[in-house]
Amino acid sequence: MTEFSPRYLKDYQVPDYKISTVDLTIELDDNKTIVTNVMNVIKSGEHQRALVLDGEHMQLKSVLINQTQIDSSQYQLSDSTLSITNLPEQFTLTITTEINPVANTALEGLYKSADVYCTQCEAEGFRRITYFLDRPDVMAVYTTKIIADKTSFPFLLANGNKVEQGNLANNLHYVTWHDPFPKPCYLFALVAGNFDLLSDTFTTTSGREVKLELFVDKGNLSRGEHAMVSLKKSMLWDEQQFNLEYDLDIYMIVAVDFFNMGAMENKGLNVFNSKFVLADDLSATDDDFFNVEAVIAHEYFHNWTGNRVTCRDWFQLSLKEGLTVFRDQQFSADMHSSTVTRIKNVKIVRAQQFAEDAGPMAHPIRPEKVMEMNNFYTLTVYEKGSEVIRMMHTILGDDAFKAGIELYFDRHDGQAVTCDDFVAAMSDASKTDLSQFKLWYSQSGTPELIVSDDYNSATNTYQLTIEQSYPQTHDKQEKQNLHIPINFELITNDNEPNQGGLLHSKEKTQTWTFDNVCSKPLPALLGNFSAPVKLNYHYNDQDLNTLMVDASDEFNRWDAGQKLFAGYIKQLVNNPELDLPLQIASALEQVLACNADNAFKAEQLILPSFDEMAAAIVEVNPGSLVRAITVLKGFIAEQLQVQFLQTYQSLCTSEFAKDGQAIGNRALKNVCLDYLSLLDGANALVLNQFTDANNMTDQLAAIKVAALNDLACFEDVMTEFATQWQGNTLVMDKWFTINALHNNENVVQRITGLLEHPEFSIDNPNRARALIGAFAFYNSEYFHNKDASGYEFLFEQLAKLNTINPQVASRLITPLIQFKSFDNNHQQLMKGQLQKLTKLESLSRDLIEKLDAALK
Ligand code: PHE
Ligand code: ZN
Repeated sequence: MTEFSPRYLKDYQVPDYKISTVDLTIELDDNKTIVTNVMNVIKSGEHQRALVLDGEHMQLKSVLINQTQIDSSQYQLSDSTLSITNLPEQFTLTITTEINPVANTALEGLYKSADVYCTQCEAEGFRRITYFLDRPDVMAVYTTKIIADKTSFPFLLANGNKVEQGNLANNLHYVTWHDPFPKPCYLFALVAGNFDLLSDTFTTTSGREVKLELFVDKGNLSRGEHAMVSLKKSMLWDEQQFNLEYDLDIYMIVAVDFFNMGAMENKGLNVFNSKFVLADDLSATDDDFFNVEAVIAHEYFHNWTGNRVTCRDWFQLSLKEGLTVFRDQQFSADMHSSTVTRIKNVKIVRAQQFAEDAGPMAHPIRPEKVMEMNNFYTLTVYEKGSEVIRMMHTILGDDAFKAGIELYFDRHDGQAVTCDDFVAAMSDASKTDLSQFKLWYSQSGTPELIVSDDYNSATNTYQLTIEQSYPQTHDKQEKQNLHIPINFELITNDNEPNQGGLLHSKEKTQTWTFDNVCSKPLPALLGNFSAPVKLNYHYNDQDLNTLMVDASDEFNRWDAGQKLFAGYIKQLVNNPELDLPLQIASALEQVLACNADNAFKAEQLILPSFDEMAAAIVEVNPGSLVRAITVLKGFIAEQLQVQFLQTYQSLCTSEFAKDGQAIGNRALKNVCLDYLSLLDGANALVLNQFTDANNMTDQLAAIKVAALNDLACFEDVMTEFATQWQGNTLVMDKWFTINALHNNENVVQRITGLLEHPEFSIDNPNRARALIGAFAFYNSEYFHNKDASGYEFLFEQLAKLNTINPQVASRLITPLIQFKSFDNNHQQLMKGQLQKLTKLESLSRDLIEKLDAALK
């Protein structure tokens, strides 16, 4: 493997030069785009150090200082830098480069795909457009002039406000944009193409009218409406909750089909993966609608948390991401059921973030060492980062938290700052000591709370003892005790009100004593998942049944059910013949019968996922785990067959609605279908649902259970689905995914064949993830097949993606590097594939970093 050296947080130094303005002229062309970049550069302090600009994958055409061309005796060019020496205190630097957008399959920098030119600069893509100080603490005011063919590219977009436009010779035209807010280059954006435009306006509290423009592929206008409504809801919410108003006169969103991530918060010009913009009743599921709204909100919220106040360096990524995820989660919770929203967040943390913490890429939410920044857009930085913000919210309370946010903007608007600055604002505004709490930023790994208790009926006292325990992480970091907020409730069956509140665990072991407890209580802990930790307390089935019904925290009611299921799944892994108690079924029967809302009931009925269980069991045999889950599911299905069928039928309606209740009904109906699909009669039921479906949620649920149970109708419904939806990229992604989930020993052959399908293209990240990713992440049975055919398949795809799109490759390698969760046999097979990858020629920095970590 090639050597790449990591960068360290501790090595941070302020930049030697500032760049105050950037004037770009970009003449778009498929293979030879010319970028002229005129910068005002100012030396910081007195020194004679060279100006070292970042730049990659482009051709340098010329360098001018104060309008005079300099030659290569005055500058030095390397693979990744341009160094210029002997510079005055302040000067105009003009750099011209040539780039090739069509050849750019990595989708970083300026690229052309599906007839659209677009840019992606976060984290370090701007250096593929021009030579620059590509670091977030260099903030400049940008003016961008775009020149392109008028017929093919009627829309030329960049950040800020449009200041000029006009026609040129040869059917060319130009548009000039000016963004008055100084920003780091990662927020720069440019888009050129031919779109349909959905326009609207939003009037801010202070009465300014903002133009809202949503650009979608021709013919897709109606599919953009939900995104537009979501944007307006987000704008209103941020004003109401945080007094944060939008600041430019125009807010643009462009949907593109080729995008490495979900979306990007470029100032005034968000670029979105079309998956998180386009949605209509027939082609999008209820989850899709939810996700579009959440991602629209997330990017919008970045305008303050990320853009107005940005990161000093990339190690501080969680400053903007953890905070913005927290904000979008709060928004979603306000728009929908807060408990169900919280459950969705927590499932991701437990199934995937915990796995990351337990794997070779374990890192704190503020990493200390990075080789390829793109590898750190992780569940840890985003989701655990959000949990850390949430804990501050829990510890300080809503009012003090909001005062902290206000102080943060008072102090830092227009600056590039650190996580320490954020915590300082929180601490100062609330007059709370957060020094121990801050360790959450520097410590990796998932803490475990070991809880024991003791009740003394003579004195009516109850003692709760909590020990913090830290499993060794891959980075071998030494652990300190954290400040962990623990929501608790003591459930008693006497008539006294339950005691409850917030415990602050700060020491290795701490005991709390409660008086006036008249009967032995049952502790309900970590209500609403008050900290991202594992909990170890010996609840018996009876306890869990009690919690499922009596815990006042809805999240805890759900969680008790999950614990009950998880306990049996663990036992079934070792003993598939285990006699399961009818009690499990009766607990669920109660769930079905009670009058909670159906979305919540649906969550209560869903078993813990393979990933969540794998994160909770050491060195598990993947096949045994899949079977254990299936046995439990089959048992529940048989016991509650009548109730499931009844519920299912009662929820089948011919009208389609999209309000919260209708969504909850569909969720519950499809969970019932999922259980019923394990029983006799499944084929007819599923076929029926498929045929009758008048919305994507139901249609997709039907083909999914057909795949998961390899039902007789599987091939037919898949063919029919593909015929109905061919050409609809987003729906065909779903079809590819269902193929990858097929529970059949020939699935590797099937998906290998699909690589040649006319609608498949490995260059498109959504497609690659839909087929290859879905197989590796979610077809646990056949990905982990003991003949290693699943691993081998992934290896072959990664070898291709390594050169086509390293970022996508680096995401899809995740299931292979997390081999530690599995038994030795599987570990060896997985490592074998990783070894093969290390031998590839021109291995990307992205993969090298992960392979190094995994094989170390
Ligand atoms: N900053 C984007 C977000 O969280 C994510 C992103 C990162 C997109 C890197 C593209 C590249 O909203
Ligand atoms: Zn973000």
